[in-house]
Amino acid sequence: MKTIKVGLLGLGNVGTGTYKTLEMNRKHIESNTGLSIEIAKILVNDINKKRDILVSPDQITQNIDDIILDPSIDIVVELIGGIEPASSYMLKALENKKHVVTANKAAVAANFDDLMDAAKKNQVMFRYEASVGGGIPIINALNTALLANEFEEILGIVNGTTNYILTQMTEYGLDYADVLKVAQEKGFAEPDPTADVEGIDVANKLSILISLVFGIRVPIEDIPTEGITNISKEDIRLADQFGYKIKLLATAKKVGNQLEAHVQPAFVPKDHPIASVSNEFNAIFVTGNAVEDLMFYGKGAGPLPTGSAVMGDVIEISKAIAKGAAFDHHTESKAVKMLRYVGEGQNKYYVNMMVKDVPGVLGSISTTFGAFGIGVDSVLQLSKDANINREVPLIFILHEVTRARLDEALNKIRSSKFASEIKSIIRVM
Ligand code: HSE
Repeated sequence: MKTIKVGLLGLGNVGTGTYKTLEMNRKHIESNTGLSIEIAKILVNDINKKRDILVSPDQITQNIDDIILDPSIDIVVELIGGIEPASSYMLKALENKKHVVTANKAAVAANFDDLMDAAKKNQVMFRYEASVGGGIPIINALNTALLANEFEEILGIVNGTTNYILTQMTEYGLDYADVLKVAQEKGFAEPDPTADVEGIDVANKLSILISLVFGIRVPIEDIPTEGITNISKEDIRLADQFGYKIKLLATAKKVGNQLEAHVQPAFVPKDHPIASVSNEFNAIFVTGNAVEDLMFYGKGAGPLPTGSAVMGDVIEISKAIAKGAAFDHHTESKAVKMLRYVGEGQNKYYVNMMVKDVPGVLGSISTTFGAFGIGVDSVLQLSKDANINREVPLIFILHEVTRARLDEALNKIRSSKFASEIKSIIRVM
C-alpha cells in the first residue's frame, strides 16, 4: 500500500483532533483510498508537554526545517494558528513543492492571494476547508458543487465559542465569564479568546467566504466588526420579549452593484432557522441564483469536527498524489464584475436607553428620530425597572437606517435633558 507522509505543524486542540481522527478511522480511510497516511513529523513548541495521545519521540521536532525541507514529506498540515509565523511556514512549504492544508482563518484571510499564487506557481494543492465552519464542508461546496451559481447573499453563525456563550446565557441565564471558561476547556476558543469574543475570528471567516462567493478580497480591517462583550443579560431578556434571540452574525450581500458586509450581534426572529443554531454549532446560508437558498449546519469548533475537515483535505490531496493527477488549484477568479465594496448598509436596530420618567419624554425622543428620518417599529417602557433616580428603560426597535445616521440621532438624544444613558444598540435582522 502506498504511504503518504504528512508533516504536522502544531499539536494543540486541532492538531490533537486531527491526529485522533486519523487514528480512529485509519482502517476505514485505508480501505476507502488504498493508501496509508502517516504523520511522519510534528512541529511542537514544548517537547515535554503532557498530551492525551501517544506520539513517539522520533515524530516530534522543534525545527520547522525538519518538515519543510524533508523530501519524503508530501503534505504539510499547518495548525499553529495566527498570521505569523504560520503564513511564512506555509509559503515556504509550497515553494518546496509540498501540498499544504490549514485550519488557519487568520492566515488565509490575510494572505489569500499569496497562498493561492504560490500553490499554483509550484503546481501543488492548497486546501483550507477547516478554516471556516469547523466540520462543515462549505469551502468544498462553494469550490465545486455550487460553481454554476452567482450569489446574492451569505449569512452565517461561524464562531462556535460565541454561539456557545450566547446560547448558555440565553438558555440558563449563566454569566458571560463563566461560560467563556467552559468554551475554552472544550477546545472551541482560540488560544487568545479575544479573537472570538470581539468578532475578529468571524471577520476572518467572512473575508474568506467573500473571496470565494463574490470574487473580491475584503481585508478584515474593512469589515465593520463588533463582538459580544457588550451583550448583557438584560439585552437577551428583552430580545426574548420582542420575539428574538441574539446571535453573532456574519453578513455579506449584494445590493445592486454594491457589496455590503458586517460582523455584528443581531436580534434574530425566533422563527428563523438560524435562531435555533445552538452552542458550538455553526450555520451558513447562501442564496445562489440557480440553487436558491441553502443552509449548511454542523459543529463549527472542537478538535474532532475540525480534525474531520483537515483530514478530508489531506485525503483528497493524497488521492490526487496517488493517481498522479494534475493538481487543481481552485484559484480561478469568480469575480462578480463591477461589484463595489461599501461596508455596512442599512439595518433595523434595537436601542435601549435610560430616560427620565417625566411627561413628554417618549414624544420628544420619537420626534428626534423622526427628524433624522428614522421610523419607530416598536417601543417598550418598563416603569417597573425604574432606578433610584426615577429613570426608566425605554426600548425602541427602529426601522432601517445606516449606523452613521442612527449615531447622529442618538448624539442629539444624548444631549437632550431627557436621556441619561444609551445602554445598548443592536442590529435587528
Ligand atoms: N475559535 C473558533 C470558534 C474555532 O470558536 O469557532 C473554529 O474556527
